[in-house]
Amino acid sequence: MPDEVTGSTARVLIIYDTRYGSTKTIAEWIAEGAASRGHADVAVQNVAEADPRGFDLIVIGSPIYEEHPLPSVMNFLAANRDRLSDKDVALFVVCVDYGTVSKEELVHRYLADLQTRAAGRVRAIEVFGGYLDVDKLSDTDRKLIEDFAKLMGAPITQVNKLDRQSARKFGAQVAHFLEPA
Ligand SMILES: Cc1cc2nc3c(=O)[nH]c(=O)nc-3n(C[C@H](O)[C@H](O)[C@H](O)COP(=O)(O)O)c2cc1C
Repeated sequence: MPDEVTGSTARVLIIYDTRYGSTKTIAEWIAEGAASRGHADVAVQNVAEADPRGFDLIVIGSPIYEEHPLPSVMNFLAANRDRLSDKDVALFVVCVDYGTVSKEELVHRYLADLQTRAAGRVRAIEVFGGYLDVDKLSDTDRKLIEDFAKLMGAPITQVNKLDRQSARKFGAQVAHFLEPA
């Protein structure tokens, strides 16, 4: 597939990784928002199979685990620097700390890893609230969360900060960059 896009329809690729599905859900909501602009062709791909060639705008996101984005997403950004260098890029993270401290603090804490690895024109960054259900976690993840909860002195069972509207809004906002001036 050529790396140049011909024709008038811009192509948007939303790339994610996930352990329990919430970042995939957010990626799909971002896609809905991007598609709502009408002029964009939108695809959603897991990072394991993602190929940015042929797309104009790459939106890439990761959940936060133990203070960091998943290595798969960081590795993708590092391995695709050349392919991303001439594209518009948007970055997002998904975390349950959303709403507990300022957005600036979360950007500083959780997006910096992605920002330093991303080539291309980073046009937008965003932090989204995530979803956590302790009963659905792997043994390893449940133990980590339970240890953390003990440290905080408060039990954690379920947290749901997913917000379709804010994800759709971000999708529409990033697709707007592709509109002819
Ligand atoms: C073991 C574990 C560690 C986590 N660490 C953090 C963290 O450091 N900061 C945070 O805000 N959220 C943290 N979370 C919450 C996840 O980011 C949140 O559940 C997210 O929605 C998971 O995305 P996924 O369903 O796409 O995997 C953690 C969750 C688990 C299970």
